[in-house]
Amino acid sequence: MYSVEQIKALGKERTPESFTKLLEIFVSNVPIDVKRETVSSIGRHTDNDRIFAFAEREAFNRDNPMEIIYQIFRTCLYKSRDDERFSQLRQKIMDYYHNENIDKMNAYYDFRQQREKVQPSRKTAKPLLLVGDSVHTLRQLEDGCIQLVFTSPPYYNAREYSDYTSYAEYLAKMGKVFCECNRVLEDGRFIVVNVSPVITKRPGREFESIRYPIHYDLHRVLTDSGYYFVDEIIWIKPEPSVPDRISGYKQTRKPLSYKPNCITESIMVYRKNCAFLLDRNMKSYGDYDRHDDEAVDTSNCWYIAPKYDKNHPAVFPEELCRRVLRYYSFEGDAVLDPFAGSGTLGRVARRMGRVPVMCEMNEDYAEIIDREEPGYYDVRGKTDSAHNQQITIW
Ligand SMILES: C[S@@+](CC[C@H](N)C(=O)[O-])C[C@H]1O[C@@H](n2cnc3c(N)ncnc32)[C@H](O)[C@@H]1O
Repeated sequence: MYSVEQIKALGKERTPESFTKLLEIFVSNVPIDVKRETVSSIGRHTDNDRIFAFAEREAFNRDNPMEIIYQIFRTCLYKSRDDERFSQLRQKIMDYYHNENIDKMNAYYDFRQQREKVQPSRKTAKPLLLVGDSVHTLRQLEDGCIQLVFTSPPYYNAREYSDYTSYAEYLAKMGKVFCECNRVLEDGRFIVVNVSPVITKRPGREFESIRYPIHYDLHRVLTDSGYYFVDEIIWIKPEPSVPDRISGYKQTRKPLSYKPNCITESIMVYRKNCAFLLDRNMKSYGDYDRHDDEAVDTSNCWYIAPKYDKNHPAVFPEELCRRVLRYYSFEGDAVLDPFAGSGTLGRVARRMGRVPVMCEMNEDYAEIIDREEPGYYDVRGKTDSAHNQQITIW
């Protein structure tokens, strides 16, 4: 019985004899890891005619497990650089199997090919306050200049600052903002969205009020906007701090009238689609300051009291911002809130050595952000003409 090491050694020999031996081993009854290594070692040889004949025959042999097909596909990717036959076979395999893994391998290969021109060098950003609809104001920023997006969008029509004509219109608007965030976000970085189900006002007592599970629908909006799901963190509030829904049931104990108090909100954690692993994002920082003294939140349940503010009806608790910034950004990073409200994220980001980029449509709220930290923000966009200017945040 051959071991993986022996197969690797045959791959390094690169002789006609070692090639023949590998072909014999491939058709014999060997464990899958040995078989996979055999394909890899065949691919390491230099006789492209023989490799191509093997790959073309075995790639469409349905008796081969997918692990073997993936390995053959990998050989095609690397050989397609200088041999057109492999490039055509690569396409044929993609069309034939049409699966996510093969698409990912293909995207990763393409990414590696153009790696040298990809990563912009890290520079220090300046704090920015963009006043206006973020779909428009964000267009002024260059691609990939932001390292984290953390936001709490309007919860449909729950508050006076939003008045969408329908839920569908609301979701479409969120999609536009998240797409623009995707463009300005560095590849592979996170967008974190805080939201919870809302209830809308009913037009009369004869109508039922409707609850919208916004986080369920925002999942699709986010994935359609170029992100993939990473985690859901549950923000848990003390029960006395939330509106009472349960007392009716407690009085009557009537089945069907049960309405529990809602003490949770969702913190949706998504990553911008890209062909490389998170390691690459982390490595781009080199050494960093470890904060070993701080306790770590080990579970996805975060217990944080809500915050009330005289100037804004729905503000982040600072503690929530602190945790998100701590876990999903490095010092010096540019962090964006496209629905800035009273600017809580900006205040905490500043204290934590991050650089905030805040977008707020409501001029009164934008005024508050600017007033609270006089001179800190470069304020843009109060006039329409300013919306067409390109802004560099460096
Ligand atoms: C839930 S609040 C955010 C509160 C914020 N997290 C805080 O701590 O104060 C949402 C904010 O988004 C703003 N907003 C809504 N649509 C917007 C848009 N298209 N562009 C910019 N801001 C928008 C609203 O005016 C509101 O202040």
